[in-house]
Order: sequence, then C-alpha cells, then structure tokens
Amino acid sequence: MRGCRVIGSAGSEAKVLFLREECGFDIAFDYKAGSVLEQLNLEAPDGIDVYFDNVGGETLEAALSALRVHGRIIACGGISGYNEEKPRPGPSNLFNMITKRLTMKGLIVRDWLDRQGDFEKEVGGYFRTGKLKNRETVAKGIDQAVDAFLGLFSGVNVGKMVVKLA
Ligand SMILES: NC(=O)c1ccc[n+]([C@@H]2O[C@H](COP(=O)([O-])OP(=O)(O)OC[C@H]3O[C@@H](n4cnc5c(N)ncnc54)[C@H](OP(=O)(O)O)[C@@H]3O)[C@@H](O)[C@H]2O)c1
Repeated sequence: MRGCRVIGSAGSEAKVLFLREECGFDIAFDYKAGSVLEQLNLEAPDGIDVYFDNVGGETLEAALSALRVHGRIIACGGISGYNEEKPRPGPSNLFNMITKRLTMKGLIVRDWLDRQGDFEKEVGGYFRTGKLKNRETVAKGIDQAVDAFLGLFSGVNVGKMVVKLA
C-alpha cells in the first residue's frame, strides 16, 4: 500500500501460501526449507532496504548480509532466541553495520500508545475494506492459555494467537 516490494518468511508451506495469496506479499519463502540467506538472495538479488525483525538469529544475519548501503533494521522481536539456555553470541556479520552504514532501532509498541487512535483509524479502515488480511488461531478457555503460549514457539498459530475466555 506504501509502494514497497515486500518479502516475508514463515515456517510452513501453508503459511507461505497465506502470505503470498491472501496477505499480498510480493514474495514469501519457507525459512525451514533451506538457508535463509540463500533464499533471500534468490528473491532479492539486488538486496533489501528495510528489515523488520521479529526473529533474530539466522534471519537477522541473512538480513545484515542482504541489506543495501544505508539500509534500516526495525528490531521488534527475537523469537528464535527466547528459549536459549545460554546467551547466544551476536550476529557473526555485525560488521556490515559499519561498511554499509546501517541503522538499527528498537521498537516497543507501548511507546506509541499516543498514536493508537490514528493506527486504529487507518489500519481498521484497511481491514474493513479488505485491503489488509488477518487470521486468528483461537484457543478456548483459560486452561488452554499455557499451551497457546507455548504454541507460539512451534508455530501452531496462523495469525494472532488468541485465548478466548468463557
Ligand atoms: N516490540 C514489541 O513491542 C513487541 C510486541 C509484541 C510482540 N513482539 C515480538 O514480535 C514477534 C511476533 O510476536 P507475535 O505475538 O505477533 O507472535 P506470532 O508471530 O503470532 O507467533 C510467533 C511465530 O513466530 C514463529 N517462530 C517461532 N519460533 C521461531 C524461530 N525459532 N524462528 C523463526 N520463527 C519462529 C512461528 O511461526 P512459524 O510457523 O513461521 O515459525 C510463530 O507462529 C515476537 O518476536 C514477539 O516477541 C514485540
């Protein structure tokens, strides 16, 4: 909608199809099907300008390699490392930050609560008119909450994981 060519990655063929065919991603690939860097290089041989990071780890390293000069990283999450028992060393190719003059900025959603109204107006409109698609995976009952939370790490959810209380 803002004129970007958007590449997504997800952990199954069904999710990749959802991104491509329903959500309007220009390209999507299965990060479990092979090297993230190889798949990204194949889809974006000229590199990328922005990487929105929800994952960290191998995907962040691939993005650091693929980003163009003056590229930007929005650091939102690092789910690939949340269950590590020992702190993992940082990306092995962080030196790209220097050579390519990259910018990386952390994002915490609650810093932007003053703009929630604007967000709901704009993005709510996209949902109402069908320009933006979403799915929910709904677990029913508080007793399902722990399994629903753990399911985020194995990717059982498609779209937002919701626990519906009675
Ligand atoms: N900064 C903030 O303010 C903020 C706020 C909320 C959430 N977050 C972060 O944003 C990210 C997304 O959160 P969400 O609540 O919307 O969850 P979500 O994307 O609905 O669910 C998590 C998904 O992450 C994927 N995943 C799990 N383990 C992975 C791994 N090792 N490598 C790559 N992908 C993996 C799974 O999908 P696949 O099947 O594709 O693997 C899973 O479905 C998380 O990192 C979360 O911590 C940040």
